[in-house]
Amino acid sequence: MSRPSPPAETLTLADARKEHARLGAEIAEHDRRYYAEDAPTISDAEYDALRRRYAELERAHPSLIDADSLSRKIGTAPSARFAKIRHAVPMLSLDNAFSEEDVLDFVGRIRRFLRLGEDAEIVFSAEPKIDGLSMSLRYEDGVLVTGATRGDGAVGEDVTANIKTLEDVPKKLKGKRAPKICEVRGEVYMSKRAFLALNKRQAEIGGQIFANPRNSAAGSLRQKDPSITASRPLGFFAYAWGEMSEMPAETQSGMIKWFETCGFKTNPLTKMCRSVEALLRFHREIEAQRATLDYDIDGVVYKVDRLDWQERLGYVSRNPRWAIAHKFPAEKATTIVRDIEIQIGRTGALTPVAKLEPVTVGGVVVQNATLHNEEEIKRLDVRIGDTVMIQRAGDVIPQVLGVVAEKRPAHAKEYHFPKKCPCPLHTDVVRETIAGGAEGARAHCTGEFACPYQTVEHLKHFVSRRAFDIDGLGEKQIEFFYEQGWVKEPADIFALEGRNKEIRLEEIEGFGETSVRNLFGAIAARREIPLERFIYALGVRHVGETTATALARGYGSWSAFHAACLKIAAGDEEAKQEMDALDQIGETVIDSLADYFGEEHNRRRVERLAKEVRIRDAEKPRSDSALAGKTIVFTGSLEKMTRDEAKAAAERLGAKVSGSISKKTDLVVAGPGAGSKLAKARELGVETIDEDEWLKRMER
Ligand code: IVH
Repeated sequence: MSRPSPPAETLTLADARKEHARLGAEIAEHDRRYYAEDAPTISDAEYDALRRRYAELERAHPSLIDADSLSRKIGTAPSARFAKIRHAVPMLSLDNAFSEEDVLDFVGRIRRFLRLGEDAEIVFSAEPKIDGLSMSLRYEDGVLVTGATRGDGAVGEDVTANIKTLEDVPKKLKGKRAPKICEVRGEVYMSKRAFLALNKRQAEIGGQIFANPRNSAAGSLRQKDPSITASRPLGFFAYAWGEMSEMPAETQSGMIKWFETCGFKTNPLTKMCRSVEALLRFHREIEAQRATLDYDIDGVVYKVDRLDWQERLGYVSRNPRWAIAHKFPAEKATTIVRDIEIQIGRTGALTPVAKLEPVTVGGVVVQNATLHNEEEIKRLDVRIGDTVMIQRAGDVIPQVLGVVAEKRPAHAKEYHFPKKCPCPLHTDVVRETIAGGAEGARAHCTGEFACPYQTVEHLKHFVSRRAFDIDGLGEKQIEFFYEQGWVKEPADIFALEGRNKEIRLEEIEGFGETSVRNLFGAIAARREIPLERFIYALGVRHVGETTATALARGYGSWSAFHAACLKIAAGDEEAKQEMDALDQIGETVIDSLADYFGEEHNRRRVERLAKEVRIRDAEKPRSDSALAGKTIVFTGSLEKMTRDEAKAAAERLGAKVSGSISKKTDLVVAGPGAGSKLAKARELGVETIDEDEWLKRMER
């Protein structure tokens, strides 16, 4: 995209003016897509490059700076849907640093401005830069009166009704004496996990798919109906302020502590840094943790801690002189769509996948990106041959953000979603019906158990790590055994050894005597299996691990569970109600089990399988243990047991295991390498123990 531009100083004023105007329009358009549509089409790095060039032109030709200059505007004008709120103190943004040199310059500028000597200490408060949207919360006499987005920095959108639905936003400030006026500012964000779950739901109902957590947070906040916002898990970190009738602290860090006493969450990774080296170390440390954090960050922010210094340093155009954002390299990239293929899942769902020219994004080579469904292909207007922008966030499946329109070649080919399934059966593809009888976005193969693709995916699920977990029987072996006709359904796996006289697996390339012996050993070892694993392995839609465990606990034995499912499939209301009464089980799961067991073919497969294995009754949670009813979080690595074992043990003792720390957490078991979770636990005052102590408590 970027062809090298001549240095701005060498341009004539007329040429510079032309480029400045063109760039201005381009940036404004990208701002509109980003802020008003929550649908950017270029990466942050590319956007930053445009802005840098724009600023460079203005530096070389100051006469270009006029009232319309983008350098004087922030964000974009608020959209027409919400009432406007004028910020009592403008909401500004931050200058960016991309290199160590930029950070050195930043600190040097501060020294010069404050006339500090080379060795005078400047203390900085360093914190992650959250990739969400900024929010200003106004409290009068301690009561939340308005919540406003940044908008253009001067005027934002009134999202008060929506912001009140956030758990992290106190409706009243805690503490005895609240200031008359207090504006708390910070970032609204959506966790990566919530973002993925939301997109999954949206794909199922044919709703809007969001490109990243920031856009889904923005989309969720800017809803006309606050109950929609309420249903979307949004978080809020406080990190700045606007109008304050009195100042409760004299430093940035003091303000952050005060926000905490008022009932706000602040970022647990915030740290004091006393030198440039410490700032750069912080940048490296946070970048190393980036992928493991459950929220997106795009850099770190350094702020001069002393507020009297902040005041003296003041602002240059739209940015404070006392703070800077030190960005991370982008996790987005552009590449070419070579083809679009359909993947058929275990439940028959057809998912279009973009086959990409391999590209490295955030250190990982990406060759596939999901396109979710037919609607999404239409919305993005992706064609084969297009250059697209892709994004990878942590271990999330790469997504296509948009098409680079300028790069569309003449031969770009439109993609037609197949009417017939690409599986060997060529069944008709049907669109799922959703609540209310409308057509959903999810397309299905109607082949069910007759479709070889679905069958193979089913078998792969059956042997996967969290299901039967059979060593030496992975996806490749399953495909091979299926093709050979040896394994067509789960029960066949247990018949393999008996048939080996005719098959003679050890004579097939890639197997050998030892591996065959090991494989049969691993299969035999799984002839006894806990009920929850067995239920999960069946691969019933909507019955994931947690649900399977809840069902196993609820019924205790396979015979009780199986009988209940058969009754439900036959329409027995009483059996339905009984299942509905179980913790964590609702209508979706019940309907799905009814469908599954309503199918003669499934019933027979399950019965054949149940004859091959001994299904161990679920252990009833012990209610007499000291851990019963407690919520536990494991973090860091455990040395004496696996995470899964620890989880199972905790659940046996009647505890609940959670992945994230909140006020509801009772106990944190932290092993070596525990990072942000441990910090958060300490901050919330949650009891934290090591693995040895955990082993002791399990015994009690
Ligand atoms: S301080 C006057 N701290 O980044 C400076 N901003 O590019 C006020 N942001 O508009 C902002 N994390 O939306 C600050 N820890 C953090 C931040 C942060 C994210 C956002 C914020 C701001 C933008 C500036």
